[in-house]
Amino acid sequence: MMRSPRLSIIGVIISVVSLLPVMTQATEPIQFDYMMHCQGCHLPEGQGFPLRDVPRIKNHLGKFLHVEGGREFLIQVPGSAQSDLNDSRLTAVINWMLITFSQTELPDNFQPYTVTEVSRLRRSPLVEVKSTRALLIKKIEKLKL
Ligand code: HEC
Repeated sequence: MMRSPRLSIIGVIISVVSLLPVMTQATEPIQFDYMMHCQGCHLPEGQGFPLRDVPRIKNHLGKFLHVEGGREFLIQVPGSAQSDLNDSRLTAVINWMLITFSQTELPDNFQPYTVTEVSRLRRSPLVEVKSTRALLIKKIEKLKL
């Protein structure tokens, strides 16, 4: 006896739907982490959220890597340091954000963050976030990047 074609189509649909979360995670796990943990404030294109005081990272984030203290800041800032992501996933997201949103601002000798570096930095979070950031922005503005 032949199997009902309708039943097997339903079977295919059920297996595809149940696999969807696995499939999206498997193809873009880093972007998925950004979506779940960072995008709520930083928005899909990294355009920032002025109403919430979230700065733009699009075509800007990489500039921090040109000034002293900037590399540390990107990991010590509360959004990074205090996220629920473990060290290796945070490392992947930060490197992904830099390359995806701010490739043109990266220094020529850009070295991606390593997990060891991120793990060390996030354990000494910033006390004065606003003033540290303001100081870095001043240094960046002087460079006229
Ligand atoms: C609740 C809102 C919020 C979430 C969620 C958030 N951030 Fe942020 N982020 C901010 C704000 C606000 C700033 C500006 C510095 C500050 O005041 O903390 C910032 C700044 C940053 C900066 C430095 C860029 C700059 O111009 O100051 C980095 C890097 C960063 N966040 C990474 C992340 C990552 C990675 C995640 C997800 C794991 C994340 N953030 C999630 C609000 C958020």
